Amino acid sequence: MKTPIYIIEEDRLRHNLSLIRDVARRTDSEWILAFKAFALWKTFPIFREYINSTTASSLSEARLALEEFGAKAHTYSPAYKDDEFDEIVRCSSHLTFNSLSQYERFHERAGECSIGLRVNPEYSEVGTLLYNPCAPGTRFGVMADQLPEQLPQDIKGFHCHCHCESGSDVFERTLQHIEQKFARWFPQLEWINFGGGHLVTRKDYDIERLVRLMQGFHERYPHLKVIFEPGSAFAWQTGPLVASVVDIVENKGIRTAILDVSFTCHMPDCLEMPYMPEVRGAKTSTSPSQGEGITYRLGGNSCLSGDFMGMWSFDHELQVGEEIVFEDMIHYTTVKTNTFNGISHPSIGMLHSNGQLEILRQFTYEDYRDRMD
Ligand SMILES: Cc1ncc(COP(=O)(O)O)c(C=O)c1O
Repeated sequence: MKTPIYIIEEDRLRHNLSLIRDVARRTDSEWILAFKAFALWKTFPIFREYINSTTASSLSEARLALEEFGAKAHTYSPAYKDDEFDEIVRCSSHLTFNSLSQYERFHERAGECSIGLRVNPEYSEVGTLLYNPCAPGTRFGVMADQLPEQLPQDIKGFHCHCHCESGSDVFERTLQHIEQKFARWFPQLEWINFGGGHLVTRKDYDIERLVRLMQGFHERYPHLKVIFEPGSAFAWQTGPLVASVVDIVENKGIRTAILDVSFTCHMPDCLEMPYMPEVRGAKTSTSPSQGEGITYRLGGNSCLSGDFMGMWSFDHELQVGEEIVFEDMIHYTTVKTNTFNGISHPSIGMLHSNGQLEILRQFTYEDYRDRMD
């Protein structure tokens, strides 16, 4: 197998999809895929066996929904543009506005779309500011004190996204704030979308609590259709990024294995969040001399000085050509990668249930060149 390559594993994907389908049934809600986390459209036929819809946040994602997933999108964009709006409407079943001014500007052109408004409960437990949509000064959603008592007739839903890799305990606390602030408008609505960030496929996620929460919610508001739109949960732990060691260098006692992948190009969330990815067969360590194994920084092959992470200790000396496997590298990575420095983009493969590895895409010089054509 030629590295670098992202490998999505069909069995693990089906495991997540079947769990999510079960959660949808037990919570009497619709679960749709957020493309912002995962958009490998060659896998959509598998998704269609389990779910019926997706959520888009741009014209390109909305087109992908219609043209490749085969169903109109639930679309939310922070800011619709005049020259894209009609095409977005063509590709969407639901259309959520981020602000009252966007609603005013565009709602008459929304056609058959069911119109929603993003609301902001001013409560989120997301610690990392980069991912917190309720931080002071946020540009996301309308606050309760900005809403008129009587909503415009054509607003049918509220959309509320304030989670990130969260458990149902967080949702339980957040839901109290959502209801406290917005329940008085619920009688005027048909649906509510609780956004993404519900990590139901994580092993320790308390699904029973979510089921109880939703039972209570449906009893209080039986007329409201409930929608969840996670991305990560669908692709959570569905496969690795496999890289190879290209060189090993040492400076001031720090040994770095330089790989044929880059953190900034191919695993950007590691640097942004930041978080240490799991490396198969290695343990994280805090210093070059700590631990029993042989400790390395892992370095990217871009020229960015900060394109490294570490340390990890291995039970042997790494060799040039040896594979390094970064676990859980499908969600967000495959949609956020870039070709900075002209670095070769990892291939994308799918490991089918029958053990066959299908190469979905390989990247060439022309991919790099033509983006700037
Ligand atoms: C509006 C909205 N919906 C859904 C999602 C998907 O979230 P996640 O991938 O954490 O489930 C996001 C992520 O940022 C989002 O902003």
